[in-house]
Amino acid sequence: MTSAHTEVSPAETAPPALPDFPAGFLWGAATAAYQIEGAVDEDGRTPSIWDTFSRTPGRIAGGDTGDRATEHYHRYRQDVRLMAELGLGAYRFSVSWSRVQPTGRGPAAKQGLDFYRRLVDELLEHGIQPALTLYHWDLPQDLEDLGGWPARDTAGRFADYAALVADALGDRVGLWTTLNEPWCSAFLGYGSGVHAPGRADWTAALRAAHHLNLGHGLAVEALRTALPHDARIAVSHNLHAVRPRTDSAADREAARRIDAVGNRVFTGPMLDGAYPADLISDTAHLVDWSELVHDGDPATIARPIDLLGVNYYTPTVVSALPEGQAPDAAAASEAGHGDGAQSPFAGCGDLLFTRAPGPRTAMGWTIDPSGLTELLLRLHREHPGLPLMVTENGAAFDDRLTPEGAVHDPQRIAYLHGHLDAVRQAIAAGADVRGYFLWSLTDNFEWAHGYGKRFGLYHVDYPTQARTAKDSARWYAEVIRRGTLPD
Ligand code: NOJ
Repeated sequence: MTSAHTEVSPAETAPPALPDFPAGFLWGAATAAYQIEGAVDEDGRTPSIWDTFSRTPGRIAGGDTGDRATEHYHRYRQDVRLMAELGLGAYRFSVSWSRVQPTGRGPAAKQGLDFYRRLVDELLEHGIQPALTLYHWDLPQDLEDLGGWPARDTAGRFADYAALVADALGDRVGLWTTLNEPWCSAFLGYGSGVHAPGRADWTAALRAAHHLNLGHGLAVEALRTALPHDARIAVSHNLHAVRPRTDSAADREAARRIDAVGNRVFTGPMLDGAYPADLISDTAHLVDWSELVHDGDPATIARPIDLLGVNYYTPTVVSALPEGQAPDAAAASEAGHGDGAQSPFAGCGDLLFTRAPGPRTAMGWTIDPSGLTELLLRLHREHPGLPLMVTENGAAFDDRLTPEGAVHDPQRIAYLHGHLDAVRQAIAAGADVRGYFLWSLTDNFEWAHGYGKRFGLYHVDYPTQARTAKDSARWYAEVIRRGTLPD
């Protein structure tokens, strides 16, 4: 079409307004048992690998442990009131395995289960949907002593535990997640060793990854049997938005390897029914996959799920090491993958991790919401028909309580605004994203970093356990109330 004077109205040149979040979009916040509960030796609970690890000198910044944490075990009513204050539609929490099935085997512990019954009832009374995660990294120590996740038997134990929790809570919890970030359990726990149980053995890490996959599949089977038909079952992954540092063939190859051992090691078997061929060949020197994966495992692992949870904080930038340069331990740590002495990716000690440019959070993680849009759209493209949920997103900053009792955290508000906008963009481009859970409700025990890193909407003064709403809490409450972002 040719026209000498095409008139374009201002409305046509302005970018199209993004639609609001869809009706029924679930607004939530998330926590995990060991990070908040405390009460580690009450009511029959036995130690988990995180109790052991955090009590091992040198493992956690400042020698912190989860012994008290935010005392949520005793203050859960107060915490549910905070959630109600925010107007949350859902609350994502995890169950401590060794609290409800001490030692990881045998009968349920009534007192432990009663805590979660009380918590769930309290949530329901406040109109908040419980979203329960079965495993957020706290394996019973007794199961670790029997071999932990590198041992195949642990997968079966996990399915038994899933059935036990489903029997107790299936009548009142509608949204179930098997595993939280199995990548961290396998590769930080058994590979780089910066998380519990602190083993540094890449073969063990890959074996753990397979048994976490298998445990997930077996747990899905157990949950389908035990839960009402309308219960929804999910898994949450910290998928890496991997970016090659340059467009060189070597850097793109580095990114492919990280995508294999960082993402597709889980999404391959869980969503596509098989381990990717490139992962198998990249790691053949570490593990014999034909011995590790038994007949029938792929079908078990690929049992259909109803929702895929995505946890996102920062992108991963990787490059090939220039020839002759030794691997740089600090680079792996700086990229936000843990504080290990080596790359946290199995078999990738020859790669270099750098931070993307731009502002960072107190974790040192570059703030880049585009990685979240990218991940959601990739999943939408590769797995159309599988609804998505952002099951974690948030940021730590060096928050200070003012003498007037306020916490001004404009950086967190900006972070959240940017990432919610990223979710909105993914939705506008077609991704079926059903909800967003902010990490985290309150400040809490940030694993190897201890209590120094604060992710909460509510500040916790640890000596007094007083909770104080940060400015971001009021901001989030307003977003939830309006169902959209401020301009
Ligand atoms: C991922 C984990 O699931 C959560 O436990 C942790 O605190 C946050 N990321 C922040 O690092």
